[in-house]
Amino acid sequence: KIIKVHAPATVANMVCGFDILGFAVKEPYDEMWIRLTEQPGITIINKDDYQLPAEPEKNVAGAALLAMLEELTQPVGFELTIRKHIKPGSGVGSSAASSAGAVVAANTLLNGVFSKEDLVRFAMNGEKLASGVKHADNIAPCIYGGVTLIRSIHPLDIVALTAPPLFVTIVHPQIEVRTADARSILKKQVYLKDAIKQWGNIAGLVSGLLQSDYALIGRSLEDVLIEPVRSILIPGFNTVKQKSREAGALGGGISGSGPSIFMLSKDEATAIAVEKVMQDEYQQLGLDHHTYVTTIHSSGVEII
Ligand code: HSE
Repeated sequence: KIIKVHAPATVANMVCGFDILGFAVKEPYDEMWIRLTEQPGITIINKDDYQLPAEPEKNVAGAALLAMLEELTQPVGFELTIRKHIKPGSGVGSSAASSAGAVVAANTLLNGVFSKEDLVRFAMNGEKLASGVKHADNIAPCIYGGVTLIRSIHPLDIVALTAPPLFVTIVHPQIEVRTADARSILKKQVYLKDAIKQWGNIAGLVSGLLQSDYALIGRSLEDVLIEPVRSILIPGFNTVKQKSREAGALGGGISGSGPSIFMLSKDEATAIAVEKVMQDEYQQLGLDHHTYVTTIHSSGVEII
């Protein structure tokens, strides 16, 4: 028996919710296949040109599966084939898609012995391997779908939020920003006045999503803590953001730790106009880039 899954890209932070908010998008997604093997242990087959390691301990999907194996009483073997379409290092949850896709697929083979929360816990080991930190704001939306709030990591407390239809435009400028680096430059302390602004925005964003209040969502897409530090690493960031808003986007910012930038729009025509803004800016800067126009996707990893 072979299980095939699609593991979606995700946008972590959702501007103001550093490490606590994230959402899944419809495209791009990775394709993965898994089957049980007679030999216990994990075999990984990479079907792409990204030169990702095949040793399970060094591969994010392998690290997630190893964490799962530790909690199984009988020895099990998996063979996992991965075809990545989400470019590693692009800032749209490439490592999370590998880790989450692997554990959801494996759990399906095991007739669903583990809960979604267990799967998030296992997949976070992949994030630890990729960035040094067990953050769940890509993993949780990748498994639950839609917009998720990670209220707490210890103990794990994940809240799936309802959201109105939202179009997402993403641009990936071809520069390298490593999550570990993008985290190490952050200030460890914040001013109370900035914290007040930030939690006002987070509460506003969550309320806006639950009440389908697009104007409130737009007003709340502001980050006074992380973006001012990280945006310096992304050429064209301020122009893209400003011109996207002028083109009608509700707002947006850095996707995860970057370098991708995302913008949310109420309708598809605006999302396409925003794509043009992004393309024009990076063409002018002479920087290779890739864009997507997609939507927030209500389902996470899908069994095909
Ligand atoms: N919340 C994490 C960060 C996401 O911003 O560092 C990394 O993809």
